[in-house]
Amino acid sequence: MSTVMSRLIHSRSSLSRFYTMAASRNGRFMSTDSSKVDEPFKVEEAETVDVPPPPTEKLLVLGGNGFVGSHICREALEHGLSVASLSRSGRSSLHDSWANNVIWHQGNLLSPDSWKEAFSGVTAVISCVGGFGSNSYMYKINGTANINAIRAAAEKGVKRFVYISAADFGLANYVLQGYYDGKRAAETELLTKFPYTGVILRPGFIYGTRRVGSMKLPLGVIGSPLEMILQRAKPLNQLPLVGSLFTPPVNVTSVAKVAVRAATDPVFPPGIIDVYGILRYSQQR
Ligand SMILES: NC(=O)c1ccc[n+]([C@@H]2O[C@H](COP(=O)([O-])OP(=O)(O)OC[C@H]3O[C@@H](n4cnc5c(N)ncnc54)[C@H](OP(=O)(O)O)[C@@H]3O)[C@@H](O)[C@H]2O)c1
Repeated sequence: MSTVMSRLIHSRSSLSRFYTMAASRNGRFMSTDSSKVDEPFKVEEAETVDVPPPPTEKLLVLGGNGFVGSHICREALEHGLSVASLSRSGRSSLHDSWANNVIWHQGNLLSPDSWKEAFSGVTAVISCVGGFGSNSYMYKINGTANINAIRAAAEKGVKRFVYISAADFGLANYVLQGYYDGKRAAETELLTKFPYTGVILRPGFIYGTRRVGSMKLPLGVIGSPLEMILQRAKPLNQLPLVGSLFTPPVNVTSVAKVAVRAATDPVFPPGIIDVYGILRYSQQR
């Protein structure tokens, strides 16, 4: 890069020299100051300049060691982003080579002092933090933990924030009340703090290969055919109470692709993207 710049600068200065000579042969220089009309234009030899590389996007994935988060980290690295992850356990247990290119931070989003430094210099955040348990635990992990992260990101001047939320599941919303109440509370906070650059993805079931310890669970065996069938059954999704059971599952690589795009593309629309939106965006180049 510096060689190219140097050549450019040298060729520009050679051009200037050429015009200087040509102009002096023709008699007068173009100048607005009449007292300086015949003063020769002084051309200094250009130095080689070290041009810094263009600033890179720095992405922080909250829960980058989880099922969805690890696919997001990998997708972001493939796009040349600088990638960091934050989670309670820190480094991923995956031995894949891409994991060596992620900066792994350890911290609990429910204990704010343990992680705020991880947000420094970050341009975009994608949160995959969520989980199941008692109603109050689910509210904390899906709601409070993400609300803490959204507030910290806004304070630190992060440009874009993407939250992996979840589609409504009719009756399941009552059974998993803490989960859905938490998700919706985090969504509200995101839309308030990042009204123009906050994106909420609401997938139903996400399938792909999930690692549990050293085992790989091929969830695509069920998810992939269901996705094909249910994508074409969108009207069933409108049925009261049971409609959401027909929400098509979505591949984890599609979720990762759309999340990274939403975190980096300045013209990606803010707001809620449902499963059909995720499928549509994932099919775009
Ligand atoms: N999988 C699906 O089918 C599905 C469907 C719809 C929506 N979603 C949503 O998508 C998101 C990702 O799901 P997933 O299946 O990838 O879940 P996952 O594998 O359990 O990942 C959750 C991540 O959150 C981190 N985490 C949990 N509590 C934390 C805390 N207090 N502070 C910091 N990190 C914390 C976990 O790491 P540590 O344990 O190391 O902290 C883990 O990396 C979740 O929000 C989930 O609700 C998933």
